[in-house]
Amino acid sequence: MAGYLVEDTRKVTTHRLLEMKQQGKKIAMLTAYDYTTASIVDGAGVDCILVGDSASNVMAGNVTTLPITLDQMIYHARSVTRAVKRALVVCDMPFGTYQVNPTEGVKNAIRIMQETGADALKLEGGVEILDTIQKILEAGIPVMGHLGLTPQSINKFGTYAVRAKEEAEARKLLSDAQALENVGCFALVTEKIPAILNAQVCELCSIPVIGIGAGASDGQVLVVDDMLGKNKDFSPKFLRRYADLHQIMTDAIGQYVSDVKTGDFPNEKERY
Ligand code: KIV
Repeated sequence: MAGYLVEDTRKVTTHRLLEMKQQGKKIAMLTAYDYTTASIVDGAGVDCILVGDSASNVMAGNVTTLPITLDQMIYHARSVTRAVKRALVVCDMPFGTYQVNPTEGVKNAIRIMQETGADALKLEGGVEILDTIQKILEAGIPVMGHLGLTPQSINKFGTYAVRAKEEAEARKLLSDAQALENVGCFALVTEKIPAILNAQVCELCSIPVIGIGAGASDGQVLVVDDMLGKNKDFSPKFLRRYADLHQIMTDAIGQYVSDVKTGDFPNEKERY
């Protein structure tokens, strides 16, 4: 099994991600929302852990990422940072915490950093939120951008389909990517855009571009529960499943139920 024999056990920094891009080394990123999962993800050699607002879907069962609150994201991020020794931990700023104005955005950004111990924040959007990103960066907080399908804007898009297929949107995405790099973002997530466009973003930007459903990139990110196959109802084309945890967990729990019902569990060795 490859992957978790990481030779370089130093804490990953934003600077190291940049070096990885310069050296042509790919960046592996996954989400995590809780202590136990984060410790497995970190121990397996993932470079960057995202405390994604996808916790809203995955952990809480919401249809979108919009309902998750600042307090809930802080709870998840704090649980993750307690576990992580090596990976860079990036926390999503949830919907409504940075869109109102730069002052409020910086205040909420500082709160996440102070209360969670995360290493960096991720914000969705391009030039529309550049002033806010600039203020957050001026406060000394590293920012990862997020372009393409930005789930916090799902009600505006009206669909989870591939973004930037049309030329005007593709052009805007390229200029947003350039603007995010120019303002000082240390990396970018590109979600669900055509692979050809993503290759242009990777070429244009000297900061790492981490794709999800965007083809070849400087790095890849997936939602950990999806790649482990916990949710059998979500199977977009871009998702590679590395395990069938839904089946494994169902079998194990079914066996437990059966053992309890038959009186097989606990046996004599499993009692005091
Ligand atoms: O919240 C999340 O999980 C994300 C990834 C899909 C990039 O933003």
